[in-house]
Amino acid sequence: MSYSITKLIEQHRGENFSLHEQHLNTQMVRVLRTIGYDRLYTRAQGPYLYDEEDHRYLDLLSGFGVFALGRNHPTVKAALKEVLELDLPDLVQMDVSLLSGLLADKLVRLTPEPLTKLFFCNSGAEAVEAAIKFARYTTGRSRILYCEHAFHGLTLGALSLNGEEIFRQGFGPLLPDCEAIPFNNLEALERALQTKETAAFIVEPIQGKGVNLPSDDYLAEAARLCRQYGALFVADEIQAGLGRTGKLWAIEHWGVEPDMLLMAKALSGGFVPVGAVAMTSRVMDRVFNRMDRAVVHGSTFSKNNMAMAAGLATLEVIESEKLLDNAARQGEAMLTELNQLVERYEFFKGARGKGLMIALEFGKPKSLKLKTAWNLLETANKGLFSQMVTIPLFKRHSILSQVAGHGMNVVKFLPPLVISDHDREWVVEAMDDVLAECHKVPGAIWDLGKTLAGHAIKARKSA
Ligand SMILES: Cc1ncc(COP(=O)(O)O)c(C=O)c1O
Repeated sequence: MSYSITKLIEQHRGENFSLHEQHLNTQMVRVLRTIGYDRLYTRAQGPYLYDEEDHRYLDLLSGFGVFALGRNHPTVKAALKEVLELDLPDLVQMDVSLLSGLLADKLVRLTPEPLTKLFFCNSGAEAVEAAIKFARYTTGRSRILYCEHAFHGLTLGALSLNGEEIFRQGFGPLLPDCEAIPFNNLEALERALQTKETAAFIVEPIQGKGVNLPSDDYLAEAARLCRQYGALFVADEIQAGLGRTGKLWAIEHWGVEPDMLLMAKALSGGFVPVGAVAMTSRVMDRVFNRMDRAVVHGSTFSKNNMAMAAGLATLEVIESEKLLDNAARQGEAMLTELNQLVERYEFFKGARGKGLMIALEFGKPKSLKLKTAWNLLETANKGLFSQMVTIPLFKRHSILSQVAGHGMNVVKFLPPLVISDHDREWVVEAMDDVLAECHKVPGAIWDLGKTLAGHAIKARKSA
């Protein structure tokens, strides 16, 4: 009898949590059970997930930004099926493949002009690792500048550029000669660059943790300063790139020309892990400068045909379905509609973002009763209020979203770029309801708040 994944899934239906509890990350299972996210999703389409009762959820998390096209897009599926049917020679290694050449050709046309070369890898963190090495080799300098609150991945090199202590704690020593500077602060950047020891400044055009937007002149001026002091300017577009902000690359909003541009996540089409570094020929020609250095950096699975086909199909869908326009239009409308809620709800300080990378900020209310409740929660654990928004959004309205970072009262929405007017209304109406409930003290949401505070205090004590 032939091997069947369908049958395997049927035989083990519902064992997800027990298997993970036994063999994978037990703490993740605990978290999901504690906050009531322990659903059994059985299928997915576009921006929706469906559970075993065929109940529909709107996914504003998008696998941390992977599902720009939504899930199981037919064009990407068809491309991948074709690759399988063709029995192509993959990963020959002592060869160069056509599909990787074609994806590189396409990406080079779509990235800013000075970027004419491509390096493929398997994830966002691998793209960051490559950028660190390439910058050091190209400039002959070692220092890497990054921003406070930055997130560039969790491998050791990328972690050395992580702006949050919680991710780094206990994993040191990390890479030497990496220096954090405040985001959006040109004086600090110039001071750091002046020693002329910096190989690169690596920056997210819009910071994913907290959805922090740059001021209008920041990125272009930062790139200019880097050039002036002989450092490379690296734009990490792993989350913000490929249409997320309503333009193909976030740096296009500010007319920036980087030396390297990093991408991953959405390029996968939601199927095959892939990452890439677009760079100037100066960088490529310097790193790969002799025949005996032709394999000086790389990875076994990079440029595999499935990943390349997923990338090609993804770019085709972004174009043919005009997803940049949809992301820009839906994002702008969502921001406007969410911001109309500010005057009605004291806890809500406003929404910000670009395209479909959106943050909702919460803060201390004015009235005494609400302020007392807020203070109690904040004392238990800073940033806990944001979970009082995400959990009811999920339980009452079947909307999956995320807290934007540790210790902050910011909720982040990263919807698939394919969302419709109806999906947007779903989100705005749900936020209206959740905020209204948050303003009822005492009330069901504050009972949840008390439970969350209890967990936080217990966790702190046991730590
Ligand atoms: C801006 C940014 N850079 C790098 C990464 C790391 O990507 P990966 O998780 O694929 O290693 C992420 C992931 O969230 C990211 O948002």
